[in-house]
Amino acid sequence: MKRICIWFVALPLLLAGCEQSNETSEKGDEEQFVNDLLQKMTLDEKVGQLCQYTSQWEMTGPTPDAANAQKLEEKLREGSVGSMLNVVGAEATKNAQKIVVENSRLGIPLIFGYDVIHGQKTMFPIPMGEACSWDLELAKLSSSIAAKEAAANGLHWTFAPMMDVGRDARWGRVMEGAGEDAYLGSRFAEARVHGFQGDDLSSENTIAACAKHFAAYAFSESGRDYNVVEIGGESLHNVVLPPFKAAVNAGVATFMNSFNTIDGMPATASVYLQRDLLKGDWGFKGFVVSDWNSVGEMIAHGAAADLKECAQKAITAGCDMDMEGYAYVDYLTQLVENGTVDVQLIDEAVSRILSVKYQLGLFEDPYKYCDVEREKNNIYTSEHREASRKVARESMVLLKNDDAILPIKSSVKSIAVIGPLADDKDSPLGNWRARAEANSAVSLLEGVRAAVPEGVEINYAKGCELATGGRTFSTYLQVNEDDKSGFAKAVKAAKKSELVLLAIGEDAYMSGEGRSQTDITLQGVQKELFEAVVKANKNVVVVLMNGRPLVMPEVVEKATAILEAWHGGSEAGHAIADVLFGKYNPSGKLVMSFPRNVGQIPIYYNYKNTGRPEGKYDEDNLWSNYTDAPNLPQYPFGYGLSYTSFTYAGLKLDKQETGVNGEINLSVKLTNTGQVKGKEIVQLYIRDEVATYARPVIELKGFDKVELEPGESKTIEFKLTDKELGYYFPDGKYVVEPGSFKVFVGGNPHELLQSNFILN
Ligand code: BGC
Repeated sequence: MKRICIWFVALPLLLAGCEQSNETSEKGDEEQFVNDLLQKMTLDEKVGQLCQYTSQWEMTGPTPDAANAQKLEEKLREGSVGSMLNVVGAEATKNAQKIVVENSRLGIPLIFGYDVIHGQKTMFPIPMGEACSWDLELAKLSSSIAAKEAAANGLHWTFAPMMDVGRDARWGRVMEGAGEDAYLGSRFAEARVHGFQGDDLSSENTIAACAKHFAAYAFSESGRDYNVVEIGGESLHNVVLPPFKAAVNAGVATFMNSFNTIDGMPATASVYLQRDLLKGDWGFKGFVVSDWNSVGEMIAHGAAADLKECAQKAITAGCDMDMEGYAYVDYLTQLVENGTVDVQLIDEAVSRILSVKYQLGLFEDPYKYCDVEREKNNIYTSEHREASRKVARESMVLLKNDDAILPIKSSVKSIAVIGPLADDKDSPLGNWRARAEANSAVSLLEGVRAAVPEGVEINYAKGCELATGGRTFSTYLQVNEDDKSGFAKAVKAAKKSELVLLAIGEDAYMSGEGRSQTDITLQGVQKELFEAVVKANKNVVVVLMNGRPLVMPEVVEKATAILEAWHGGSEAGHAIADVLFGKYNPSGKLVMSFPRNVGQIPIYYNYKNTGRPEGKYDEDNLWSNYTDAPNLPQYPFGYGLSYTSFTYAGLKLDKQETGVNGEINLSVKLTNTGQVKGKEIVQLYIRDEVATYARPVIELKGFDKVELEPGESKTIEFKLTDKELGYYFPDGKYVVEPGSFKVFVGGNPHELLQSNFILN
């Protein structure tokens, strides 16, 4: 950050604390500045910094809720608000900022937060889809574009990335994360933090990121959102926490705690998580915001009697900012005054928040993100949409491709495009779509029309309406999802075409917050539509658009090909067409297992063996299995096909033994043995064979995405060190235990080359 000079502050009070700085003493300057400012603040002003409110009125227009708007405006004038969420737009944020800066005693600028989850106006694929690219540079790129657009919209801070490792597809929020694996999740957490924040938070194109939801929110019991979490220390430390720790190491500016209790303790009141681990052991210097009223929800949990106790517990535990909870504003001052809460806790929380504001450059210029010209030029540009198309292409996963029906051959002269999602310009935008315009995505039909050569006949039929279970707005509920009257047209289209593209799955709002489901099969009459179409034409390519793994046995069995396209963002239709017609060879691999049925959930690749594992006993024995379904998922984590083929050979280790602080170098030869250029995601797994606490049968510890021409080979190298070979004991202690390890390399967890070594 450059020299800080406050030109805006109406009152001279702050100017005394605003001396020049230079690069080398930046941190010292920041501390000095924050300390000086803190000295000038009254207790009420301090508490104000810890409060965040949502916008209740349109800053540039009429007031839908005049009474509340009036109250909020008063609070802004008094300087008793530290942050707002859901105020968006260069002008709107400027207006709100002005109220604070020009009227409050110290003029401490607001920090504006918003859920920029997978794009601001240019939408990228939903985060879980993007993670299927296993491409960290792309994740960084999409986050940096989202940040640039959000910053141009006057925002300073996104409530992203979500890094909850999810093993339960019933939980609708799996769409927001990076899947079921902690190692991959950690790498995506880092990439996304770097993408949003860049190298310099004070740049006008970067925003502060937020590691959420701390912690274990995705482990909500039975996949029901906001439900309680029961999780042992071993899983907490090895599965849930690593991405959060990685985010701290990547310099994430803020954290958000979570709604859930963990073994009875609300995460928001957890001293262990927030104070001991995060701010203590991990050395996190930013601030923690609560989730939306997670402070107040402690009453419903039965962990606090009233809002006052909520405030006391949350601040003591290290929750610095109260989002929409009204506990801090109403009670912190009296809790300090009556000696229940030490003012030092308040000072610490305020300092953390002021520091992030300082890093964003808000004391230098509180309006630096409110530039209407930049807003006009930096949002939804063709460059951003092109990037979105690229990310969408790489996010897709080819699940099935019998008879090499894909890519579509140039000899195909008629294509039916069928399904409730085929010409849906809205669902590809996904849930958590920030400022995307409704119906602004390129639909599959539009993408196909733009991609086919002249003379190819396109026969479109919607077939049926999309199930609307997840939508909460009354207009959507009018859809009749049981209506089969469109089937006849769909069957006709299928019959007169050589090949069918059938777009089915979930609408945008069937996944996301509050969208848990007990049934994750195809909803409405989509199954029946599929059966009718496949009967009319056996060449059916199913294009799936969805926000979670689905259970779809009929499709797996009878479709000729299945392309998992997720909710692919603004350019989804073009990106899907790129893959269908072979302009891009699909390379994505799943980051979350697709179960065969809901009864298998939670299901994940890195399970631990039971005492009676598969393969050890014959079928008649009592072993750990289901009597009505296999143990393995339909499609596992790490799985995905390509239009070409790859072979792995010659897995070599540079040594068979090493010490616990040593390293093992591995190499393997990868060859593209097919006819077209393609990218392969090479995966490295280990198994710690005997440990104090049983380790998973395999665990991801490295990956590489490699592009090869047909016939080309490349030697891929990996290194294993104590960072990869250890694990956490249930108390959080990291250990590297001597013993024998297996190592596996390959393109999916069911086809792996294997070797082993000893750690002494
Ligand atoms: C969600 C958070 C989100 C917040 C603010 C909450 O309901 O759980 O993920 O950031 O709302 O919109």
